[in-house]
Amino acid sequence: MISYEEAKKMLADYGQEHILRYYDELSTDEQSSLLAQIEKIDFSILSALDSKNNAALKRGKIEPIDAVTANDIAKNSEEYRSVGLDTIRGGKVAAVLLAGGQGTRLGFDKPKGMFNVGITRELYIFECLINNMMKVVGEAGKWIHLCVMTSEKNHDDTVGFFREKNYFGYNADFVHFFVQDMAPSVDFGGRIYMESKSRISSSPNGNGGWFSSLVRSGLLGTLKADGVEWLNVFGVDNVLAKIADPLFIGAIIKSGAQSGSKVVAKTAPEERVGVMCLEDGKPSIVEYYEMSDEMINQRGTDGGLAYKYGVILNYLFSISKLEEINKTKMPIHTVDKKIPYMDENGAFISPDKPNGNKFELLIIDMINQHDSCMPYEVERGKEFAPIKNPDGVDSVVSARKLLEENGVEL
Ligand code: UTP
Repeated sequence: MISYEEAKKMLADYGQEHILRYYDELSTDEQSSLLAQIEKIDFSILSALDSKNNAALKRGKIEPIDAVTANDIAKNSEEYRSVGLDTIRGGKVAAVLLAGGQGTRLGFDKPKGMFNVGITRELYIFECLINNMMKVVGEAGKWIHLCVMTSEKNHDDTVGFFREKNYFGYNADFVHFFVQDMAPSVDFGGRIYMESKSRISSSPNGNGGWFSSLVRSGLLGTLKADGVEWLNVFGVDNVLAKIADPLFIGAIIKSGAQSGSKVVAKTAPEERVGVMCLEDGKPSIVEYYEMSDEMINQRGTDGGLAYKYGVILNYLFSISKLEEINKTKMPIHTVDKKIPYMDENGAFISPDKPNGNKFELLIIDMINQHDSCMPYEVERGKEFAPIKNPDGVDSVVSARKLLEENGVEL
């Protein structure tokens, strides 16, 4: 661990000396904890603030992208399934569950995966996802490694819950946990907030931090040693997510693309969802607020929307390409947030409006670092039931309805 002197110098270089203001008052344990936190901060992330006000991101030339459509899948399903199952049986696919988010919109004080969507029985979000994986495990006759990304804030609860529930019947030897990196929270002037005299205010560094965190945890090495070549990455929100779906894996491998993304056709031109496209000839995701009216309504030769494939956070990546991408820097996004903090007088303040910035890396930025990423169209009603809010759109209520429609007993 770094010494007090080293920490002091490091902080001085970035104008953050206030972090050590109460050092002499702290217990020995608190002092070590604070030095450990300082050592872990990636200060270079603060430079993202310099470009924060440079308005919107400059985009390249946007064009529609070809996809493996629902029709293609229906026609080639046997072939895709057989290639996918062979790949799974060869131990070449692992799944990565992104569960490090804070799920603030849901307003549940435990990790989102611990939320019970059941009505007459207990059925947790994690359990839904494991049940979905079990179907493939059953079909392939092979356990699939599942790596669960947590954050410092929810790690112990998450691991404890899986143990308590006996991994919902999954093989514990194939479930691994890793903790994502944290990023400091700052005021609008770039000064790092303190939560207490010995705790720096920080939050998980966004879902784009998953691969570097997987590498740092040592888990990637374990997977590779076991012959894994592909990672199916998915979010904790979607209780209908098909994980390690043999058809998806088979279709992407057959297409020869470097990676693949499950997508759903937009329900209406104005639907607020990021869509896949080509940007300067490379795969990319353009957010709904970045699209002009003309783009939103543009039609393709088949009469359908030219930009209609919305992403659902379910990607297939090849490890070798990810390792290449990991050598380059990802864009850092700054987000205005309400950040609880300790003020100059040592009082704890919970602001009621945004008072600073958090920093996030986004998984969607990884797509543009590939030469090819094949959109793979799935049926929304069968594979997309996100839980973001307690009720309304993308909520516990809408997801319960979709689960029931898919024959899941609640
Ligand atoms: P969201 O964008 O919904 O963010 O995450 P969130 O923090 O979970 O929820 P809100 O916005 O506060 O309500 C999409 C997926 O990315 C994961 C989440 O767990 C979810 O699976 N995620 C997000 C991480 O793993 N780490 C992060 O730092 C952020």
